[in-house]
Amino acid sequence: MTISLIAAVSENGIIGGNNQLVWNLPVDTRFFMKTTEGHCILTGRRNYESIPEKFRPLKNRTNIVVTTQQNYLKDAPGLKVVNNIQDGIEFARSLSERELFIIGGGEIYTQTIQQADRLYLTEIKAQFKGDTYFPSFNRDLFEETSRIICRPDAENAHEMHFVTLERK
Ligand SMILES: NC(=O)c1ccc[n+]([C@@H]2O[C@H](COP(=O)([O-])OP(=O)(O)OC[C@H]3O[C@@H](n4cnc5c(N)ncnc54)[C@H](OP(=O)(O)O)[C@@H]3O)[C@@H](O)[C@H]2O)c1
Repeated sequence: MTISLIAAVSENGIIGGNNQLVWNLPVDTRFFMKTTEGHCILTGRRNYESIPEKFRPLKNRTNIVVTTQQNYLKDAPGLKVVNNIQDGIEFARSLSERELFIIGGGEIYTQTIQQADRLYLTEIKAQFKGDTYFPSFNRDLFEETSRIICRPDAENAHEMHFVTLERK
């Protein structure tokens, strides 16, 4: 099973603030939805709660939520709650998942980047204020296999580069 991280990151490393995204970039949202569709997604409890209630669990994917809380939410169709990251990864494996997407937030990226086989990073070509950062990592360990440049437009205020990095 491939373990992939998927994240949008500003030039100064910000991924969020006040438990929300700090930008509105519909092209990136569509990229995220299309890339993760049909797969298991693993999320920290805080990131999960940042998804508007009517949209969670995100449909057409198995949402695996990591929390230390013992009675957080009951498992439901499309929703699995685990108490540690490894159990979440093993749950995806038990479903014969081909590619597990780790979708954040900061705490979860920090604890999983060492075991990531692939990173899908949306580089947002702007600086933002926020309180949550993507972890620093050694880019030399990865090979860039794709970079798609998306210019700003009426809906998307910033240039974005959709970058795929594969662990060497
Ligand atoms: N730009 C992007 O691509 C992107 C993507 C995702 C999220 N974000 C942003 O990131 C921010 C949220 O990130 P965050 O770092 O605050 O929180 P987070 O990583 O989403 O969730 C943290 C929570 O996960 C649980 N947790 C973490 N490690 C655990 C472990 N080893 N075992 C069991 N449970 C564990 C804990 O839940 P309990 O407290 O319940 O125990 C912890 O409070 C938001 O601003 C969000 O918008 C941005």
